Amino acid sequence: MKVLVIGSGGREHALAWKLSKSAKVDKVYVAPGNAGTALDAENVPISEKDFPALISFAREHEIDLTVVGPEAPLTAGLVDAFEEAGLRAFGPNKAAARMEGSKVFCKSVLIEANVPTARSRSFDDSSEATEYILASDSNDFVVKADGLAAGKGVVVCSSKEEALAAVKLIADDRAFGAAGARFLIEERLKGQEASVLAITDGQTIMTLQPAQDHKAAYDGDQGPNTGGMGAYCPASLVTDEKLHWIEERVLVPTVITLNRMNSTFKGVLYAGLMMTQAGPRVLEYNARFGDPECQPLLSRLQSDLYEVMQATIDQRLATLEPLKWDPRPAVCVVMASKGYPGSYEKGFEIFGLDEASKLPDVKVFHAGTKLDENGVVRTNGGRVLDVVALGDTVADAKRKAYEAVSKISWEGAWTRSDIADKEIKANAQ
Ligand code: AMP
Ligand code: GLY
Repeated sequence: MKVLVIGSGGREHALAWKLSKSAKVDKVYVAPGNAGTALDAENVPISEKDFPALISFAREHEIDLTVVGPEAPLTAGLVDAFEEAGLRAFGPNKAAARMEGSKVFCKSVLIEANVPTARSRSFDDSSEATEYILASDSNDFVVKADGLAAGKGVVVCSSKEEALAAVKLIADDRAFGAAGARFLIEERLKGQEASVLAITDGQTIMTLQPAQDHKAAYDGDQGPNTGGMGAYCPASLVTDEKLHWIEERVLVPTVITLNRMNSTFKGVLYAGLMMTQAGPRVLEYNARFGDPECQPLLSRLQSDLYEVMQATIDQRLATLEPLKWDPRPAVCVVMASKGYPGSYEKGFEIFGLDEASKLPDVKVFHAGTKLDENGVVRTNGGRVLDVVALGDTVADAKRKAYEAVSKISWEGAWTRSDIADKEIKANAQ
């Protein structure tokens, strides 16, 4: 069978790598891919935005399954376009992908489904929002642009001044363009965050093991928000009991409510949760695998992902065996460019990839890399590499991941040094 993965980040490298391991899969293409996907699959120079070219490629190469990695093509209706062309694509259609594409829509589903979430109000006008903030008893707010903003459209505020500035940025200055035409002002929740992802065909839910991302740029969760500086899986803060609760009170009602709204969700439903003292609360839903959570998750998944994805499209997940996991935990450390998440330069030669990849239980997924005309691997983004290691314990996995990181270098490369420390500390208690 032939598979086409759409996207060019670390998540897509992990998807291509995992799908290429299926006994049923002979060939994996990635459009447009990166220097790492070129090693585990074949890159195709087509942008994720060019739907007609992707459809032509899938037809000409008789692709059996197309997997859409990122949110932008999902919310723009790539799966619908493939379906209309008679092609099989994994991921939610445009209507269901609104769970990620519109925070106002997502909140309306959460309320309709009676899923625990932060109290929130939507606005399309900054003066009304200003009045609301000034009249509030609280000084803690979260202001969120409605639409996609590459993970940057959320501002967590500790004062009314900050909240007013965030409203101005989103609604008046339109820092995130049309994504800020509507926005939410939310109650600020406290606690640790966890990512619970599930593969669902709209009828059956296969919950994946819980993971934790590290969104802040620097050690100790300090500094600006990023796309994620590292992740590990499983995350013990989501106990088995809590995971069942999340299935029953969060995932099941969400999937049923989407069905009722004629927006059946088929794909990966990713709940971003705050584990508050009062219990888990949904911060957001994403309509895809998390990046970097996908990398440690798929490093541990032993089941055949190709079969699971095909069964999702046909709504026969209920007929599959439960998912099988490597019992060993996985830790993923992101190596970033100097300056990220602010501005950064690209094009630096990366050294030591082969040496790092030879280490046992280590896989180096590429995120922002590309091959130059001489076949040299160079940096091509803010988050450059995702170094994953499996270990007997989380501490062991962390040690192996950082050992691999120490073999790799380029000008300005850096990482957080405390990925998975919260888990290691919790396990020690
Ligand atoms: P979102 O895209 O909605 O997940 O928001 C991005 C990040 O903002 C989350 O990972 C949280 O760290 C933070 N955040 C979002 N909503 C809230 C909230 N209601 N309370 C506290 N932090 C939040
Ligand atoms: N790791 C956060 C995200 O994928 O949105």
